Amino acid sequence: MYTAEMLASIQKVEASRPSRINMELRRMTAEEKEGLLKTYHPDFKQEEFAALRVGANKGENVPHELAALLEGRSRIKDENIDLNKIDYDVDVLVIGGGGSGSAAAIEAHECGANVMIVTKLRIGDANTMMAEGGIQAADKENDSPAQHYLDAFGGGHFAAQPELLKKLVNDGPGAIKWLNDLGVMFDKELDGTMITTHGGGTSRKRMHACADYSGAEIMRTLRDEVFNRNIPVVDFTAAVELILDTDGKAAGAVLVNMETGEYHVARAKTIIVATGGAGRLHYQKFPTSNHYGATADGLILAYRVGAELIYPDTLQYHPTGAAFPTQIFGCLVTEKVRALGAMLINAEGEAFMHPLETRDVTSASIIRECTTNSKGLQTPHGSAVWLDTPMIEIVRGKGTIEKGIPAMLRMFMKYGIDMREQPILVYPTLHYQNGGIKINIDGMSNIDNLFVAGEAVGGIHGRNRLMGNSLLDIIVFGRSAGRNAAVKCKNVKISELSIEHVEKYEKEITEAGIKSEVISPLLLPSYANKDGFKRKRSVTI
Ligand code: FUM
Repeated sequence: MYTAEMLASIQKVEASRPSRINMELRRMTAEEKEGLLKTYHPDFKQEEFAALRVGANKGENVPHELAALLEGRSRIKDENIDLNKIDYDVDVLVIGGGGSGSAAAIEAHECGANVMIVTKLRIGDANTMMAEGGIQAADKENDSPAQHYLDAFGGGHFAAQPELLKKLVNDGPGAIKWLNDLGVMFDKELDGTMITTHGGGTSRKRMHACADYSGAEIMRTLRDEVFNRNIPVVDFTAAVELILDTDGKAAGAVLVNMETGEYHVARAKTIIVATGGAGRLHYQKFPTSNHYGATADGLILAYRVGAELIYPDTLQYHPTGAAFPTQIFGCLVTEKVRALGAMLINAEGEAFMHPLETRDVTSASIIRECTTNSKGLQTPHGSAVWLDTPMIEIVRGKGTIEKGIPAMLRMFMKYGIDMREQPILVYPTLHYQNGGIKINIDGMSNIDNLFVAGEAVGGIHGRNRLMGNSLLDIIVFGRSAGRNAAVKCKNVKISELSIEHVEKYEKEITEAGIKSEVISPLLLPSYANKDGFKRKRSVTI
C-alpha cells in the first residue's frame, strides 16, 4: 500500500526506534508554544478571516466560510410560512439529535416536560458518534475537579469562561456515574474499577473510555434511553429559522422536511439548540473528522435572532487526521494512540516533539515539520508525518492495539496497513469548533427561552479544548440545559408567533451593502446530493 518513498522513510523510522523507546522528550516552554502557534496554527492566518458586518458580533473576525453563512440569505425569505398553522406544539423543542440534544431531551423528560427532538438526519448522526478516545472526569483519588480545571484552563489559553468551566469539572464525576448507570460499557478492571488514561495536556489519568469507540457507545446508550422513554424524534427534518414571539422571546422554529422540502411550524415554550459543529465547512480547505451534517447551522439560526457568539474565530485542528490512504483522508486517529505511546516522527525518522502537548501546539508543530522544516512525507493530499504505532506494543506488550484501539486497527487494516507492524501517516484535520453561542450558567443564550448545548456552545473550553472534555460537556451542559429549559417553560406564556426578525436581518444585510447569494443555514455540505430538496421547486440550496 505504501509508496517506495514511504517505505524508504519507514526504514529510517525503524532504525531510530530502539533509541527512542526510553527517550524523554522535552516539553515546550510557554514562549516556544506561543511563537509556534502564531507562526503555524491556522487560527493565526489573518487572511483566512473576515470581520462580520452585521449582527451581535459586528466587527469581530470569523472564518470566511462562516462569515458567508452568517451574512447569508434566509431559506424562507420568499416563502409564505403560515405561523397560525402549528404542526408541532411542545414545551421543549430540542434541535439536534446528537449527544447533547439527547442528554437534554432525556433530562427535560425526566423533569416532566413534553419534549420533542427534531434532527436533520437521524438521531445519532452526530460528532458524538464519531468521538473515539474518551471522556474526562476527575473521579480518582489522586485527582480533583480543581486539578481538572487547571489543566483545561491552561490548555484553553486561560480564555474559558470561569463559571462554565467550573461547572464542567465539578459535574464531571456525576456525568460518568449517570452514563454508567444508563449502561455505557466503560473500560474497567476486573474488580470494576474504571480504567483511566492520560490525554494531551492532562496532569492526571482521567480519561474514561470504551476502547476507541467511546462516543459511539455513549450515543448508543443515549439513543436507547430516548427511545425507551418514547420521546418523539422527528428525523430528516431541519430547523431553518427560529421563531420568536412578539415579546422577542424564542418560541419555536420553522422546520423543513429534508426529503419533501415541505415546511412545518413548531411552537415551543423553550428551545434548545444542539446542532453541533462546523467541520463540514472545511475551513481553510482542511479535511474533517466530523460527521456529514456538521455545518454550523445552530450558529446561523441563533445569530439571526440576535444571539451573541463567543470565540467564533477559534477552531480545533486535531493533530492526527489520517493522511493516507485517500479513502480515509481526514478521519480521526484518536489521541489515545499517542497516549498509549506512539510517537510523532518526521520523514527522517526523528521524533520532533513530545506527543502529548496540547492539540493546537501539536498541530502547529506538525505543520512546521511539513512546511518550513521540509521533513514531511508526500501523499496524494500534501505532506504528512509518521505516527509510530509499532512502538505501542514494544512498550506495552502484544495485544495492546487490538484491545485498546480496535477501531483504529481495523480502519487501517482495511487498506492493507497493519499499524502493529508499520507506522501510519497523519496530518491535522478540522475537528472541533472551540467557539460558538454564548450561554449563561443555566445554558441560556442572551435571547430569552433560547438554550444551547454541545458543540454549538462557545466559551466552556476557551481557545483550545483538551481531549475528552467535549464528551463531558455534551453530558454536563446537555443535561443542565434540558433541566433548566423544562423548569423555565412552566412559567412561559407565548404571545403571537413572529418571524419578523428574518426580514429585519435581511434589511440589515442590504444596508451593510452585502450582496450575498448564499443561502443559510447550509444544512448539508456543499458536495451533498440534494435530490430530496429538489423535489420541491421553490427550495433553493
Ligand atoms: O482523539 C480523540 O479521540 C478525540 C477526542 C476528543 O476530541 O475529545
